[in-house]
Amino acid sequence: MVRIDDIVFRQEYYPRSESDRSVIVSYVMSVDELPPIVVNRNMVLIDGFHRMAAYRQVGRTEIPAEVVDIPDDRVFEEAVRLNSRHGRGLSPEEKIAIAKRLYMSGKTQTEIADILSVTQQTVSNWVEDIRGQELKKKYKTVFEMHRSQPEMTQAEIAERVGLSQQRVSQILRREDDIVRDFLGVEEDTPISDDNRPEYYRYPFDKFSAFNLWYFPKKTSDHTAIHRHGVVDRTVVEHILYYFSEPEDLVIDPMAGMGEFGEICESMGRRWLMYDIAPVHSKVKKNDLLQGLPEEAHGCDLIYLDPPYFECKVPGLFGGDEERFYDFIKRIVDNSVRALRIGGHIALVMCTLSRGGRFYPLTFRCWEIMYRHPELRMVNCITSPLPPYTGNRFYAYLEQLRIRKVMIGRDRSILVFQKVGEGQTNDRWMGVMADENEVERTITGMCGDDTAA
Ligand SMILES: C[S@@+](CC[C@H](N)C(=O)[O-])C[C@H]1O[C@@H](n2cnc3c(N)ncnc32)[C@H](O)[C@@H]1O
Repeated sequence: MVRIDDIVFRQEYYPRSESDRSVIVSYVMSVDELPPIVVNRNMVLIDGFHRMAAYRQVGRTEIPAEVVDIPDDRVFEEAVRLNSRHGRGLSPEEKIAIAKRLYMSGKTQTEIADILSVTQQTVSNWVEDIRGQELKKKYKTVFEMHRSQPEMTQAEIAERVGLSQQRVSQILRREDDIVRDFLGVEEDTPISDDNRPEYYRYPFDKFSAFNLWYFPKKTSDHTAIHRHGVVDRTVVEHILYYFSEPEDLVIDPMAGMGEFGEICESMGRRWLMYDIAPVHSKVKKNDLLQGLPEEAHGCDLIYLDPPYFECKVPGLFGGDEERFYDFIKRIVDNSVRALRIGGHIALVMCTLSRGGRFYPLTFRCWEIMYRHPELRMVNCITSPLPPYTGNRFYAYLEQLRIRKVMIGRDRSILVFQKVGEGQTNDRWMGVMADENEVERTITGMCGDDTAA
C-alpha cells in the first residue's frame, strides 16, 4: 500500500492524450477489485491514472501499488508498454504520436514496434514524415552546437535537442544512414565525399605532400602588431589537415592574436583558444604552466606556438636558456595531460643565434618531447621562415656575411602523438612503415625516378 498523496503524476510521461470519464466511473463501481497501480522507486506513476482518479473519488488515502525498478527517464516507454497491453488500449492517433516521440528520442523502429505491440512496418509508416524535416532540423542543431560550443558533451547536446546520446554520436560520426536522412535521399544512395556537407570535404591539392612546408608568401595579416609574432595561416591549415579531422576538438593554448579559431572554423574543427595575456575576445585567459581547463581535456590536437626564447621578447626568460627548456617541459607535460590517447601535439620552434652563440632550441625541444614517456614522434616538418629580402635589409645582411653570422630561419614543427600504456616502444615505426608502403606504391606506378 502507498499513500495516494505521495504518488507523482508527470504529464510528460503519460501516453494518453486525454482521460476517459466513463472508465473512471466504471472503476469507482468496482474499486475493491482493481489491480494495483504501478510506480517506480521515486513514486512516479507508470500505470494506473484512471484507477488513481477512481480511488480519489471514493476518498481513499492509501491504495495498492506495485513498485518497480524503472528509472525516471524510462517511465514513458514503460507506461506505453503497459498501456498497449492491458484493458483499454491506446487509440491509433495516440499510438502514432507515441511512435513519433519515441523515434525522435532515438529508439529504433524495432524497439518501438515491441513497445507498442505493432509490426515494424506499421512503425515505419507512422514515422516516415518526421524522418524528413524535423529530424533534419535537429541534425543541423547538433552539428552547430557541437562546433560552436566545444565544451558541451554529447550527452548535454542530446538533452538540449531531445535526441538520445547514441543518435547524437551517430550524427557526429556522420554514419551513412544519418547522412542519407540529412540529405533526404534513398536508402541505396552511396554516400561519398561529394554528398557530405561541404566542410567535410578537402581541397586536397592545396596541401604539401612532403614534410617541407615552405610558403614564402605570408598568408596572415601581419599588419596587426603583436609582441610575439603571428603564425602563417597556411602552416596552421596544414597542421589541422594532417593531424586532425573535421569535428575534432583542437586547442591553441598560446593563441596570441587568435587567428587559429577562424582557421579551425573554416576547416570544420571545434576549437578552444587560451593565452596568459589574451588580446582577442575569443581567447580565454589561462596560464598553461598551471595546466589546461577541464573543458579542453580529451582534445584531439594541441597546437603549441610558444615564445622562442629571446626571439621577440628580449629578457623573457632572463636570458637563461635552461629556464626556457624548463618552461617547454612544463607546457608539454600539461598539454599531454589534456590530450586524448592517440591525439597529437604540434610544437612550432626555431633555432636562434645571439651574441655569437647558437641556441639549438628546436633540438632541445625535440629531446624533451622524445623523452616524454607518453609521446611517440610522428614527424619533424621543416617550414622555413622566409629570408629577409629587399633593399632595406641590404646593409644588415652585408654585415652578417662579413661577420660570418647566419640568422635562424629554420622553423620546424615537431609532431608527437600520445600513446597508451605499453605502447611507448617502437617510437618511429608508425611513420616509417607508412612511408615505405607509399613509396613502394609510387615506384610501382611511375617507375623508380622518385629519387631524382
Ligand atoms: C609566439 S606567440 C603565439 C602567437 C600566435 N600563434 C598567433 O598567431 O598570434 C606566444 C604566445 O604565448 C603566450 N604565453 C606565454 N606564456 C604563456 C603561458 N604560460 N600560458 C599561456 N600563454 C602563454 C604569449 O602571451 C603569446 O601570446
